[in-house]
Amino acid sequence: MNQLSESPQQTRDSRSLEGFFPLVTITEGCGIVLLILVGVWISYYRGGYSWRSDPKLEFNWHPLLMIIGLVYLYSNAMLLYRTQRNVRKKQLKLTHAGLMLFIVLLVVIALVAVFDSHNLASPPIPNMYTLHSWVGLTTVILFCCQWVAGCVSFLFPGLQSPLRAAYMPLHVFFGVAAFIGAIASCLLGLNEKAIFTLKDKYADLVPEGMLVNFIGVLLIVFGGLSVYLISQERYRRIPRPEDDMLLSR
Ligand code: HEM
Repeated sequence: MNQLSESPQQTRDSRSLEGFFPLVTITEGCGIVLLILVGVWISYYRGGYSWRSDPKLEFNWHPLLMIIGLVYLYSNAMLLYRTQRNVRKKQLKLTHAGLMLFIVLLVVIALVAVFDSHNLASPPIPNMYTLHSWVGLTTVILFCCQWVAGCVSFLFPGLQSPLRAAYMPLHVFFGVAAFIGAIASCLLGLNEKAIFTLKDKYADLVPEGMLVNFIGVLLIVFGGLSVYLISQERYRRIPRPEDDMLLSR
């Protein structure tokens, strides 16, 4: 009965969406647990937060804001077109770009925190010598280039339809690549921090070491689920007639 009253588009949508909502729920659950565990780790084991008056504690903003921004919010911003299926495309585009801009802001604060924690330490700690810092900065540069290219192509001034369509697969590819880069940077950063701070105790399976390892595993699960949801053709939002309207209309 319900089936008869559904439009062909709704029927197609509900058929192709099998497994989508349970997977989104599991992904979001992993994301929330991840953020809680990072908060617990920093507050309980790493002494909490401060700013320039205590560069050691200023550092703690770095992992927190990077994981909130470049992992949790980034995944949600990419998934927006799939989770918000009935919202107008024009509004989705603005929210997608706005969320990405907010992530840039969090990333800038996270970078200031880590560079301060090196430069204001006595004696100062050298910058940009680790693999983590190289992969991390490359990811940030890629993310920022993506944001600028996305705004120019899809918002203002906006490319002509054929050019936009040609650029779209590149936008998706580099968006997912930067997200994988962010997960890899976090894993390298976490491992490095555990080795720097726990030293020999890491090998004794101390609780902090186990917590850091668990956060790393959760990052992989969250990242893997996010990339799966984004890469499945059948979960794509079905285009609507009004989607082709220019943003300015
Ligand atoms: C996508 C996320 C991340 C990015 C883009 C990133 C980026 C960076 C960059 C560019 C530096 C170099 C700062 C300098 O040389 O003064 C750095 C340092 C550092 N980051 Fe991250 N980071 C991320 C996540 C994390 C996480 C989750 C941790 C976990 C604790 C972490 C731990 C560290 C540590 C310990 C340093 C100082 C040592 C070093 O230079 O490698 N980072 N990060």
